Amino acid sequence: MAAGDSFYIATPIFYVNDVPHIGHAYTEVAADVLARWHRQNGDDTWLLTGTDEHGQKILRTAVANDTTPKAWADKLVKDAWLPLLETINIQNDDFIRTTDERHESAVTIFLQKLHDDGFIYSGEYEGYYCVGCEEYKQLDDLMETADGDYAGQLLCKIHSIPVEVLKERNYFFRMSEFQQRLLDLYEARPHFVQPESVRNEIIQFVKQGLDDLSISRSSFDWGIKIPWDDTHVVYVWFEALLNYITAIGYGTDDANFARRWPATQLVGKDIARGHAVIWPAMLMAADLEPPKQVFGHGWLLVGGEKMSKSKLTGIAPSQITDTFGVDAFRYYFMSAIHFGQDGSFSWEDLSARYQAELANGFGNLASRVVAMVNRYYAGVVPAPSDDTEAETRVQNVVALAVTHADAAIGRLAIDEAISSIWTIVDELNGYITVQEPWVLAKSDETRVRLGTVLYTAAEGLRALAVLLSPVIPDATAKLWEALGAAPALGQLLDQPLTDAGRWAQLAVGSTVSPLEALFPRIETPEP
Ligand code: ME8
Ligand code: MG
Repeated sequence: MAAGDSFYIATPIFYVNDVPHIGHAYTEVAADVLARWHRQNGDDTWLLTGTDEHGQKILRTAVANDTTPKAWADKLVKDAWLPLLETINIQNDDFIRTTDERHESAVTIFLQKLHDDGFIYSGEYEGYYCVGCEEYKQLDDLMETADGDYAGQLLCKIHSIPVEVLKERNYFFRMSEFQQRLLDLYEARPHFVQPESVRNEIIQFVKQGLDDLSISRSSFDWGIKIPWDDTHVVYVWFEALLNYITAIGYGTDDANFARRWPATQLVGKDIARGHAVIWPAMLMAADLEPPKQVFGHGWLLVGGEKMSKSKLTGIAPSQITDTFGVDAFRYYFMSAIHFGQDGSFSWEDLSARYQAELANGFGNLASRVVAMVNRYYAGVVPAPSDDTEAETRVQNVVALAVTHADAAIGRLAIDEAISSIWTIVDELNGYITVQEPWVLAKSDETRVRLGTVLYTAAEGLRALAVLLSPVIPDATAKLWEALGAAPALGQLLDQPLTDAGRWAQLAVGSTVSPLEALFPRIETPEP
């Protein structure tokens, strides 16, 4: 990707029926790491996130809490969803709420266009509906239980709650007309839906045939009114999907829309169908481009099941960040889980990786190198002399890591990018063990060699600070500061990642300052 290209990335907009858990934070961090990577490479980057506030689920939650849906949404956004972004250090460019006037008016424009163009008609709907999913269900999506409170009833497989039978006169979107065009899209653009497991599932689903989609409801009124019939509100999914274009000026700011669209869309695989089937069909109907990509990542599991608000298995992100810090949260979830697959969260695994990888692996490396420059060179980065094979090796490892990491980010393989970068951590630790700078420091004769070794180690840290800054922004900012890199090189966030492998950027003579432990020992990992 050439610098300056548009990179627009969006997370799902989350339901405000409850507070966020680490599953929501997972999507946010992944999107933020990708956005920071592109931003730091000079791409015209835009990260959008937000909240999904209409529909029956939010309405019922508000009623159950003796308040109005808008008041409920306002409270949850202010007390929980915006603070989440602070807790996990998300640098979003915008935050859209589906109750924003900009969203409501652009949804109206979109619907009127589809209506005028003949893609919407009035018809009868009868079927099952899961309020947890806010989705119409086929029998395949349901299960029956023989015992418990819901014995004999049909339950949603995702939420394990009974579905409701819906019989209404609704407006329909002619989605069935787009079956072949969608299949052609998946075929022509194999990366449109990823990973492969999700892509295959989507293709199978569409091949079975598509029904038209009921896009309005008249039995309640918490939603955006259908522009030509104010006795109906727009079906919540149909409207929520539009956030990705209403937020960037669809219908109101053509220049900005053209600048940003299409988007890379990260979603959990639970909502891949909505994003890879309904959403592109809607866009096709409106003569708009489909997204650049829809990536359905895996689930965080607790006890083998998807962590969820409705099943009360949610862990609050602050439970982790309070003990381990924000950077460790971000690093852990991005490195320990293969992006695209499910991952089981456990405190033991988090704690072990924190200690081995962040504290002993990276943190200790940074502390030792900075301390040795301080001790042996009074805090001034020494000049390197002749390189031996060992230095050439370090330089090659760094250069290769940059190439691999950038390519991996292009495939959204975040964990692979981190493991490529981590080859530098391992190489530098090995290098220091073998070169033994503390031995070189003992004699004047080896002073020249000591300068080469410490320069190499410090320059390696410079590269690591740049490459890891999208993942662990706080620790790398401290390292950049301690290395005294800014006076010669400028701010950390202005260092293009693709250039990080160019050797000898850290200026000889830079003033190094003491570095506190980046990842201090943690005594009681469990709260
Ligand atoms: O579905 N593991 O909102 P939602 C990983 N409003 N990710 C998880 C997760 C888990 N256990 N649990 C949740 C909605 N997520 C709709 C979306 S978009 C137009 C409308 C993340 O609050 C993941 O991104 O139920 C998942 O897709 C999303 O939260 C669902 O959030
Ligand atoms: Mg959900």
